[in-house]
Amino acid sequence: MMVLEKISAVIDDMPGIHGSGTYRIADRDLKIIEQYVRKDSVTAETGAGLSTILFAIIGCRHTAIAPSREEWVRIQEACRRHNISPQNITFLDESSVDALPRLPIGSFDFCFIDGCHGFPVACMDFYYMSRMLKIGGILGIDDVPIWACKIVVDFLHREEGWKYLVTGDKSAFFSKHLEDQESREWDSQPYNAKMTKKNLRGTSFLKAFALIPQRSHKLIRLISEGDYGAISKRLKRLLNR
Ligand SMILES: C[S@@+](CC[C@H](N)C(=O)[O-])C[C@H]1O[C@@H](n2cnc3c(N)ncnc32)[C@H](O)[C@@H]1O
Repeated sequence: MMVLEKISAVIDDMPGIHGSGTYRIADRDLKIIEQYVRKDSVTAETGAGLSTILFAIIGCRHTAIAPSREEWVRIQEACRRHNISPQNITFLDESSVDALPRLPIGSFDFCFIDGCHGFPVACMDFYYMSRMLKIGGILGIDDVPIWACKIVVDFLHREEGWKYLVTGDKSAFFSKHLEDQESREWDSQPYNAKMTKKNLRGTSFLKAFALIPQRSHKLIRLISEGDYGAISKRLKRLLNR
């Protein structure tokens, strides 16, 4: 049976891996992973579930990290029911922020972020997985609409060291093309620099408006007199302080 047929059979008989249900990756995202990952790939994911079963079907050397032994037991049960061998899966029953720093740098072909979607964990998963990947390796980020995931995706879209590949139903995929990108300063990161500029503009306005109450009587007089030239000059002076 082909990989996609096998995973469809698991979906038809979906076990509740995450308790009562399975918060699984979407069908298109599964297909994208199946296209990029080969049997001889070295892969890792944060979070576990249907995606872990997909990696088991492909048969690659895979590390799944989730702080839940029960999930691993349910994944193994599902594999047994469907005649899938989980022998190439290493399951690390701990938080990704503890496990990822121990994994080897520059040795993974494919990494997938779908563990804790809170801030800063999703960003920390990105930090560690970006250094774990080989040059040419692929990073997938699931649940892109969640803000902690979206900032990673927005950041990668503007990075020279990463190439955007594709977006599925909920996941975006990029390939890595430069080493040692993780610890660069903010002003050499296009997205960080752009957002900082935007924030600084916002700060000047906030500063001006914070000062307005001190001079509100003068401003109110100018407004009532319709002296918009003087109002504009006064605001410009405040903004330049
Ligand atoms: C949305 S589910 C993953 C779905 C999975 N990719 C699938 O296709 O079924 C989120 C996963 O994150 C795991 N998780 C929660 N906190 C975590 C953490 N701090 N580190 C790693 N995994 C975590 C949960 O145990 C769960 O397996």
